[in-house]
Amino acid sequence: MPHLSPIVSLENISQQFHSPDGQIVSVLQNIFFAIEPNQTVSISGESGSGKSTLLHLIGGLDVPSSGSILWKGKYTSGLSIDQLAAQRQSFMGFIFQNPNLIPELTVLENILLPIRIAGKNLQHYLPRSVDLLHQLHIHKQTKQIPEKLSGGERQRVAIARALILNPELIVADEPTGNLDEKNANITIELLLNLCQKYHSALILVTHNITLAQKMQQSFVLKSGRLKAVHL
Ligand SMILES: Nc1ncnc2c1ncn2[C@@H]1O[C@H](COP(=O)(O)OP(=O)(O)O)[C@@H](O)[C@H]1O
Ligand SMILES: [Mg+2]
Repeated sequence: MPHLSPIVSLENISQQFHSPDGQIVSVLQNIFFAIEPNQTVSISGESGSGKSTLLHLIGGLDVPSSGSILWKGKYTSGLSIDQLAAQRQSFMGFIFQNPNLIPELTVLENILLPIRIAGKNLQHYLPRSVDLLHQLHIHKQTKQIPEKLSGGERQRVAIARALILNPELIVADEPTGNLDEKNANITIELLLNLCQKYHSALILVTHNITLAQKMQQSFVLKSGRLKAVHL
């Protein structure tokens, strides 16, 4: 078997912020973490424990106070903001608590937006978008605008949008935080099935233990430290 690099690794990452009164607040301390191809992991922790901060670092949306981040075995520290953005889009998809759909665009147009932004051929991705629409049970809403959809449907559009460019890694920050329990369960099951079908790894940040348990491996963030746990 050839040795595969993790998709993302964090080496001894610490992150500090300045609070409004000038104090230095230590949010993450000496974190080591790696996500391998096809792996699914959950990260839980109390509100304010640094979960989103950690995801921002994984996604290259912020730089750490100290430590190193590697994307597919390469250090990200020398990359410009534009290079980070281009590389990020080539292998990572994001899902947030708020679906952030463009209200004027239809469901399909929202899903295809990352292709336009990346300057790729829309035709090439149409079969994939049709499959995602069906798998996520939103194919009947293809031409609707987001306003006409339920909260669960909107988040499923956001999932399709995150998956359209065939990312090796999906990073999801409390993606079901606005959904009721039943819809949250359905949404995560669909997301997991799609990650398996399309060979995407998944990092799921969630407060919900039942959802976290669906992942292969679970971590808890507490007092700035990331700990592997059995849920
Ligand atoms: N850019 C920032 N500047 C200052 N403080 C921040 C910044 N981002 C996050 N924090 C602080 O870091 C802590 C962790 O925040 P966050 O990562 O959003 O937590 P979580 O996602 O677990 O709720 C909070 O105390 C928050 O106020
Ligand atoms: Mg958060």
